[in-house]
Amino acid sequence: MNVLGIETSCDETAVAWIESKEQTLAVKSSLVSSQIRLHERFGGVVPEIATREHLRNLPLLTRQLLENHSLNLSDLDAIAVTSGPGLPTALLVGVSFARALGLSLAKPVFGINHLEGHLFSPFLSSSSQSLEFPAVALLVSGGHTLLMEIKGWGIYRKWGGTVDDAAGEAFDKVARLIGLPYPGGPQIEKWSLQGNPNAIDFPQSFPERDNFNFSFSGLKTSVRYFLDKNPDYQKEDPLKRDLCASFQKAVVEVLARKTVRLLEKTRARHLILAGGVACNQTLRSSLETECLNRKIQFHRAESRYCTDNAAMIGLVAAEKLRRGISPDPVFDFHPNLKLEECISKT
Ligand code: KG4
Ligand code: ZN
Repeated sequence: MNVLGIETSCDETAVAWIESKEQTLAVKSSLVSSQIRLHERFGGVVPEIATREHLRNLPLLTRQLLENHSLNLSDLDAIAVTSGPGLPTALLVGVSFARALGLSLAKPVFGINHLEGHLFSPFLSSSSQSLEFPAVALLVSGGHTLLMEIKGWGIYRKWGGTVDDAAGEAFDKVARLIGLPYPGGPQIEKWSLQGNPNAIDFPQSFPERDNFNFSFSGLKTSVRYFLDKNPDYQKEDPLKRDLCASFQKAVVEVLARKTVRLLEKTRARHLILAGGVACNQTLRSSLETECLNRKIQFHRAESRYCTDNAAMIGLVAAEKLRRGISPDPVFDFHPNLKLEECISKT
């Protein structure tokens, strides 16, 4: 089975070819056209620009993928496209393109939840091991912060989420406060490298037991007040490094603490770390160590599959095909689609 994955929910246009054989799924190709440079000067994603770029790039990228591998459209067995959550007009480009392709080829088109794609992104690499349920997943990206229990294939329970900014958004906003370019996460991580994480004691929100929610806007405000009183930290090295390291520590500690608490509560033996913020080495090491100490299997995607890509979308559809799950013939795009809404019937 050859599945074409399509992703246009935010500021990355992406296509991928997933080959599904009896027991194995392989990413034969994954192309991502990032728009970061175009949005950089606005300090965040501009929906109109994102949509225009998807319109221009999606057909070109699809043609490039086919040509690179001497693949014909008629070789495709199914098409998978992100149907939500995401920017409405950006989603509409991908969904319209996928539908038109499916109609002209008479092939099934799967509308895939972007978050479900992120969840299973660790399994895009051949080295990843199989997942056992229940598992816990921490999904941290620019738009989402979710702490989930995966009870079985396609059965999700949300235990916690952010009440304000997403974790990646907090990195992006704090980076902006100190004059670092968008996206802020990789920049803050880079500046943290030689910084002292204990230099500034930033507050962490919701540290109470039995609460799995996160809040990052108070932390962002604390950074702003701190900078008002200590402007040198915005400009001078190594003070700026200390500020980045201290902020990063505050985010990572609260994410790790609540994730461990949910692992204990659910007695899950597997943890998935996914989403763009999963690229962060400090977060990754912290959770990896916690898992090692508890003999819990830790799954984290390769960095290229942590951020938005179409391989993760194709993977979910390929798995549905393998399980005999048919696509919804009248699916539409849903900007606010929830993960709990994509329960798959096997
Ligand atoms: O998953 P993603 O590509 O897009 C969304 O679906 O949102 O995640 C992008 C987010 C951005 O906020 C970016 O700053 C953050 O992931 N990010 C990081 C790192 N790399 C990307 N945050 C912290 N540390 C990183 N190394
Ligand atoms: Zn994403």
